[in-house]
This record gives sequence, structure tokens and C-alpha cells, in this order.
Amino acid sequence: MASLSLSRHNQLFSRPIFHRPKPNFFAPTKIRMSLTENAPSIAVVGVTGAVGQEFLSFLSDRDFPYRSIKMLASKRSAGRRITFEDKDYVVEELTPDSFAGVDIAFFSAGSSISKEFAPLAVDRGTVVVDNSSAFRMDEKVPLVIPEVNPEAMQHIKLGTGKGALIANPNCTTIICLMAVTPLHRRAKVLCMDVTTYQAASGAGAAAMEELELQTREVLEGKSPTCKIFKQQYAFNLFSHNVSILSNGYNEEEMKMVKEIMKIWNDKDVKVASTCIRVPIMRAHSMNVKLQFERPLDEDTARDILKNAPGVVVIDDREANHFPTPLEVSNKDYVAVGRIRRDLTQDGNHGLYIYVCGDQIRKGAALNAIQIAELLL
Ligand SMILES: NC(=O)c1ccc[n+]([C@@H]2O[C@H](COP(=O)([O-])OP(=O)(O)OC[C@H]3O[C@@H](n4cnc5c(N)ncnc54)[C@H](OP(=O)(O)O)[C@@H]3O)[C@@H](O)[C@H]2O)c1
Repeated sequence: MASLSLSRHNQLFSRPIFHRPKPNFFAPTKIRMSLTENAPSIAVVGVTGAVGQEFLSFLSDRDFPYRSIKMLASKRSAGRRITFEDKDYVVEELTPDSFAGVDIAFFSAGSSISKEFAPLAVDRGTVVVDNSSAFRMDEKVPLVIPEVNPEAMQHIKLGTGKGALIANPNCTTIICLMAVTPLHRRAKVLCMDVTTYQAASGAGAAAMEELELQTREVLEGKSPTCKIFKQQYAFNLFSHNVSILSNGYNEEEMKMVKEIMKIWNDKDVKVASTCIRVPIMRAHSMNVKLQFERPLDEDTARDILKNAPGVVVIDDREANHFPTPLEVSNKDYVAVGRIRRDLTQDGNHGLYIYVCGDQIRKGAALNAIQIAELLL
């Protein structure tokens, strides 16, 4: 039986470049404090993936209480072993019967898997927190960032025997709105234009492996292996690798547009975005141009952001020190800098800000765990 500890992407995750020692799920590290009888039973769907691994990290780091935990993935991983907080688990193949007795299921196995299995879980009384795009725009499904719109899920309760679906927004949407919403609350955003610089990790564990492999191949003078991405990624950048839609925007860009309107419950806000893949291993960055209804000067904006939950301001003009993907990798906060007046707009009605966040953590797994914490 293969041990998951040997998998390539876990080696990638444990690199010192990420600044934070990753928890080792494969060796006992500490006594589990929150494994309690009255706590919910949990399932992690896609546990062997980039986001799935972070779910485990957060369940542990945040002492999330649970009675039992099911590790679910595809048939390929069935039988692999994971040691998580003193206990050995065997990864099980996801099937329609996986959710009997499960109170909360975290899904991160892709949209088609969510579409097929999340409704089955809900029918069995499970509250599903879904990381995929499958249900985000479904009117009946709340799309939640706990710091932004926790009220959207207040009707969903645990322990009633009634299942429900809650969607995690797209990672770029989460990182952007963590920084922009506190400013929106003060001055009301009328228009937002976002340009993103997105890391390999946003495309999953295999994409991170491909970037590393390509980097080595190019340095060795070989032609790069292109399996996940259709073109050379190392030492290059390109428009996000999802489909282009009839309006010329790609799927990632239109996700941001639609999700921001839904989360803010604002059909009038004008949003446009340009999403670019850059050869960064982990953490997304974005430049955001904002137009406000009410005036907002840069000092006030900086103060608002310094007091915003989950936001850290890194805006040292003297030292030319602003947020970088490397600094926010494996961090739970979103970093904001380059807070400056937009010279193309009159008075104090326009600002630029630059935002970086680890999209596997706050952009995916952490946000989902925070949603589950609201349920508790
Ligand atoms: N990466 C991010 O930053 C990010 C951010 C927000 C949302 N998301 C979303 O989260 C989901 C997963 O992303 P990821 O980056 O973690 O991808 P990933 O690293 O490629 O992992 C995919 C996971 O899904 C599992 N899986 C694949 N096919 C399956 C099947 N038929 N039945 C059960 N499990 C199956 C895989 O299991 P095996 O190991 O057995 O193949 C693996 O555990 C996607 O919907 C993605 O859009 C990702």
C-alpha cells in the first residue's frame, strides 16, 4: 500500500521557501485536543490535493472540534495512508455512500465531482462547504467570505439533520474582497478594475510540479514538459489558462465579476478584470483600481485597512517594500500596499491598491474552515 508521505506535491509543500514549517501529517506530532464525542463528524473530499492538504492543516492548527474524520479522494488514492494527529487514516474512494453520518463535508475535488456528489451529501443531512465553482452562482446557495457577508448563511444550522450547501468564492474574489470591502463600506465602490498575477498553486498540486519541472528543464537547455499548461510557463507569463468566453473575457475573469456582485448584493457595481498566470509557485497578487462614490483619501484608506480583520498593510514607500507572494505564502492574512491616489480620477474619488494573498489558505481552505466555524 502506497504511503501518501512519498507523494511529490507534499515534498513541494514542505519546502523552506514557503517560510513556515508544514505540519507533517505522516508522523504523530501533538495530542489531539479537539477530538470530542459531541463534535461534528467531518469528511474531506479531495484530501490528497493542494486544498485538501490545507484543510487538514487548518483543522489541526485551529483545533477544529470533530468526532470523526473521513479522508476521501479518487479511486487512484484509495488505500493510501495518512497519519493525522496521532491517528492513522486510510484514504477512501469517494462514493455516494461516503456521507452516511457525516455532519460537515469540505469539498475540493473539482466542479464535476461537487456537482455529482454534493447534492447526495446534502440529501443525507450533510452541510457541504464547497470550494469549486459548481454552485457559486446558484441563487439558493450562499457564497460566503466570513469577514464580508456572514449573514448570507445565518439560516443554515448544524445538528438539525437538514443538509445544506455553502459555496466558497473563487480564490481571487476572496483575496480581492478582503482588502476592498472595508473601503467599500466607507466610500462605496462604483467601479473596480482588477489585474491579477496568479500562481501555479491556483491550478493544483500537479501544476506546481510542472512549474518546478519546467524550470529545471529550461535551465538544463531541454524543451519544457507542457501537460497542465499548453505553453511554456517557466520564465514566461500568459493569460489565465481557462476558456475565453464570447465577450472576450475568460472564465476566471467573469467569475470575479459575478461573484463580487453576489457577495456584495450589489447589481450596480461595475467590475472588470484581467487574469494572468505568472511563474510563481504559490500565492496570488493583484492590482486593483477603485472608483468611489464618496471621497476617500489614501491616508484614511490606509487606516481603514490597518484595522480590517485578516488584512495586513505593507506599504513602506521609503524602503520600497510592498506585499510579495513569497511573504504571504503560508500566511492566513491578505497583505495590502501601494495605496495611492489614482491620477486618472478627479479629487479623492479614486485609489489604486496592490493585494497579495495565499490563495490555497485564505483563498480556499481557511475561508472554508472559517465558514464551518460559523456553523459551530
Ligand atoms: N488550488 C487553489 O488555490 C484553489 C483555490 C480555490 C478553489 N480551488 C478548487 O478546489 C478544488 C481542488 O483544487 P486543488 O488545487 O486542491 O486540486 P488538486 O491538487 O489537483 O487536487 C484534486 C483533488 O481532487 C481529488 N479527485 C480528483 N478526482 C476525483 C474523483 N473522481 N473522486 C474523488 N476525488 C477526486 C484528487 O484525488 P486523487 O489524488 O485521488 O486524484 C485530489 O485529492 C478545485 O475545484 C479548485 O477549483 C482550488
